[in-house]
Amino acid sequence: MCGIIAYAGYKECQPILLESLKRLEYRGYDSCGIAVRVESRKSRRGRINPTPTIEVYKDVGRVGDLAKSFPQIQGLKGGGRGTPVDGQDARPTRLQTPGSGLGIAHTRWATHGEVSKSNAHPHLDCSGRIAVVHNGVIENFQSLRDELTREGHHFSSETDTEVIPHLIERYYDGDLEGAVTRALADVRGTYAIIVLAAGHKKLVAARRESPLIIGIGDRENFVASDVAAVLDYTDRVIYLEDGDIALVSEGSISITSRESGRGTPDSRLQTLDYRPVQREEQVIPWSLEEAQKGGYEHFMLKEIHEQPKAIENTLSGHISLIERTVSLNVRKEAGLEDIVLVACGTSSHAALIAEYVIGKLCHLPVRVKVASEFNCHEMALEKTWVWGISQSGETLDTLRAIKKARTLGCATLAITNVPGSSITRIAEQVFYTRAGPEIGVAATKTFLTQLVALYLLAFSFASPDIMNAEGLIEGLRLLPSRVRQVLDGAEGIIPHARHLSRYDNAFFIGRGLNYPVAMEGALKLKEISYIHAEAYAAGELKHGPFALLGPSTPVVAMATRDDTYEPMLTSIKEIKARGSQVIALAEEGDEDIEQFVDAVIRIPPIDPLFSPFLNSVALQLLAYYAAKERGCPIDLPANLAKSVTVP
Ligand code: F6R
Repeated sequence: MCGIIAYAGYKECQPILLESLKRLEYRGYDSCGIAVRVESRKSRRGRINPTPTIEVYKDVGRVGDLAKSFPQIQGLKGGGRGTPVDGQDARPTRLQTPGSGLGIAHTRWATHGEVSKSNAHPHLDCSGRIAVVHNGVIENFQSLRDELTREGHHFSSETDTEVIPHLIERYYDGDLEGAVTRALADVRGTYAIIVLAAGHKKLVAARRESPLIIGIGDRENFVASDVAAVLDYTDRVIYLEDGDIALVSEGSISITSRESGRGTPDSRLQTLDYRPVQREEQVIPWSLEEAQKGGYEHFMLKEIHEQPKAIENTLSGHISLIERTVSLNVRKEAGLEDIVLVACGTSSHAALIAEYVIGKLCHLPVRVKVASEFNCHEMALEKTWVWGISQSGETLDTLRAIKKARTLGCATLAITNVPGSSITRIAEQVFYTRAGPEIGVAATKTFLTQLVALYLLAFSFASPDIMNAEGLIEGLRLLPSRVRQVLDGAEGIIPHARHLSRYDNAFFIGRGLNYPVAMEGALKLKEISYIHAEAYAAGELKHGPFALLGPSTPVVAMATRDDTYEPMLTSIKEIKARGSQVIALAEEGDEDIEQFVDAVIRIPPIDPLFSPFLNSVALQLLAYYAAKERGCPIDLPANLAKSVTVP
């Protein structure tokens, strides 16, 4: 989804903005742009114009191409002819005086209007002296645009964002912050914005339901949509909250807010009554190395291989092998009778696996709701505990579901990987996974650590009898080494991936707690290799999808040795009879399976309750190598974004 970075400091901002934009590429985008404040400018005749101006450069495509617009910057690759867009005057010019320490930049993931240079951010007002970058969606943009057009404003894009600089212009009388405040009062929707104005040596940043952080440096400050953008420069950050407006310059940060407190659910307050607030500074526990490829060809492959460590880190401090107990900081209040798990995409697959595990071990009623479909019908509100699962902690549908649950009186818990993310400020309790930064768009290590968190929670609510009898803690302890074994067998998965890569369609089937694993395998394959893949509960395939079976539709089957094994063999035989090739994921030592299927991916032995961990890793590798064989842009799949911050 869109990425934002802004710089206010003593250095030239263009190289910093471009490098930071590259760090945001993982969020997914289709175009990008930069606006810088230039103190003085030399005209073509060599005269110095002392009035500060704003220069905007934008392009469709990659940040690397945008860099070619800045040939005079030392150390940047490229050097092509620049095409600045400076509002009133689209004639090609060059940055004549590059010494600008104030600028904003953006990667756009199109929502309103096609992918084009004019729709890319930053957007300008009529005078070309106010520039804005924006993440989110302005719901009432059309009526605002009509109103502003009647007042004489001229628009040059199809975006919802462009109304913001024009609204600021409408109210601007020399007080930039006041104009931003009044403009935002007219706006309905979600936003993280940063405003740059030619007449001011400060940035104005504001948020409502879209993430925004301030990175604190020494004589330099940053504003960004996430910490990955600033990790090169600082690990000290402030997380802005809904309703905050921040003034950021080289040497100062001040924040005012119009919301009444933490986690306030109503984000649509239209008051102009802002009061100064202090937001706590936090230190990001992630290192720059963790956010780099470290010799791997893709972030996704690196992150797949980091999973044993990520599991260890997430387990750390939570299990006692001697006492066979789990200790967590999460409290289950008395009177809570059922649990609703709310999540999107891969996180919802973790939730579905947890539904099975919690149901089996804790005998608690538990349901999973895809966050965009969350409603509170059939919930006994004050007796329901709602868990929001979101690796980024910024998925808008999940945030809205948790806000709604909290407003209605449900107890809430967030499970997330990102310290300080929005969900941590909405839910009452938080459980952190410790996967470290995940840059590849496809979730891998965050998914496995979500499973660890959910298993830990399930175990902590299971009775001591179950914990003692079932060797569950031992199962958790073995996980990192068993996952390592799957990774050691990666070479053996490559031929199957190559084979799969030749097809356009595939089915994934599972039963029991491996049905959501099949869903996750299909999602991974389709998102990074563009092979159409669908998951089914193995028993369901014959109720319609059988019509699609045949030599051109391979089936990947989870053949874990548990009570679903026999029925799975029956399904496999039925599939084979219709001419489809079957690749099975089966335990080492299971020789029987060979006679029924075309190929076997071997999984180390483990208690079947933990099989989702190992099967998922094998399926991640299968998807990765299939995508690689097809030459796909694995870390940045088409049309996708790492964190989905729009409804
Ligand atoms: C798929 C993937 C997405 C996310 C989904 C929710 O690989 O990453 O399906 O799982 O967008 O994201 P979070 O967990 O950040 O809420």
